Amino acid sequence: MTSILRGLPSLDVTPGPRLTEPLPADRPVRWGIMATGKIARSFATDLALLPDATIAAVGSRRLDSAREFAAAYDATAYGSYQELVADPAVDIVYVATPHALHKQDTLMAFEAGKPVLCEKALTLNARDAEELVAEARARRLFFMEAMWMRCNPVVRRLVQLASDGVLGRLQQVRADLGFFVDRPDTDRLLAPELGGGALLDMGIYPLTFAHLFLGAPDQVGAAASLAPSGIDLNLSLSLGYPSGAVASLSSTMTGRSPRTASIATETGRVDIAEPFHQPTEATWVGDDGTETITERVTGTGLADEAQEVMRCLRNGETESPLVPLDETVALMRLMDRIREQIGVRYGADDGRRSPAPDHRGSN
Ligand SMILES: NC(=O)c1ccc[n+]([C@@H]2O[C@H](COP(=O)([O-])OP(=O)(O)OC[C@H]3O[C@@H](n4cnc5c(N)ncnc54)[C@H](OP(=O)(O)O)[C@@H]3O)[C@@H](O)[C@H]2O)c1
Repeated sequence: MTSILRGLPSLDVTPGPRLTEPLPADRPVRWGIMATGKIARSFATDLALLPDATIAAVGSRRLDSAREFAAAYDATAYGSYQELVADPAVDIVYVATPHALHKQDTLMAFEAGKPVLCEKALTLNARDAEELVAEARARRLFFMEAMWMRCNPVVRRLVQLASDGVLGRLQQVRADLGFFVDRPDTDRLLAPELGGGALLDMGIYPLTFAHLFLGAPDQVGAAASLAPSGIDLNLSLSLGYPSGAVASLSSTMTGRSPRTASIATETGRVDIAEPFHQPTEATWVGDDGTETITERVTGTGLADEAQEVMRCLRNGETESPLVPLDETVALMRLMDRIREQIGVRYGADDGRRSPAPDHRGSN
């Protein structure tokens, strides 16, 4: 049997241009965590696995929440985001607020001269994403969307095998991400003013996955069911690509969906078990037999994302080649187009401001 895994090259990142002052190499990178919600806690747990990272400070709308979070890491606690971004002991700010607040929270960090890793979806629409990217570039500050799937070593290996032609010509990508959401209407997943909806929260993963392997689609079809509030709850996408490949993608907040992915090629198929966006392995079912593709994932994979950010900071790079800002913006444009088809609009589309940071969500 001919193995697709013979003579694999390393997964090292080819460094990008050095555009800003690199962080010193002789001390840990000092992170500032903005918000104390679910993903902020998962990210901090993974960061603690990295010897060259430290959590310097935590900012929350509520000082008691920041204190409780910060205590586990011996970090400084702030009762406002403004104090967090102003702390000179913070090298980079991780923005982990709901999508609708990413724009104002990221701008706040930029104005304090801080580089930013901002959670997905970067913003609610492409126009706001373009504005943030332009601001980061003008200030020569590192900026990256926290699309950790792109930094996952198994995903990176698959992308490398596909682009090296080892998997044969790609014909179909199928990917799904969803979970049954049983939360109050005020939760960020459901509240329109916080950017609720399946596409921006979950559909972004299947879309990014298809983009990684097939590039930009030239045909886009979408079907969705919406909540009375106007957000999308259940979504199916059908995409066509100039190569002749197609993608079938879905996301849902109303069903227990498979959360798997597969890539069909002329010579075999890649299968990724659930949850496909954070794999520790994938299976190649080829004409010549079946093989398991494994790579070392650090923590849940959020640590791999943090490591890529720190590699950039230590090298003076302002954008990651693994999560290019232009691709983040291209995907925001695609999501704008899909929202237009399914009839989902946010206040930001009409230039309305997001809720004030002290607006209480349900957490
Ligand atoms: N990378 C991933 O796998 C992943 C997974 C889940 C979520 N995310 C992304 O991360 C972001 C946060 O998601 P999450 O699940 O962590 O949400 P969450 O548990 O609801 O936490 C969001 C946090 O944002 C802060 N916040 C500021 N203004 C708020 C407001 N008006 N309403 C509610 N919260 C507000 C709160 O922190 P304070 O009270 O401390 O200020 C809150 O705890 C979203 O953009 C989401 O898409 C990414």
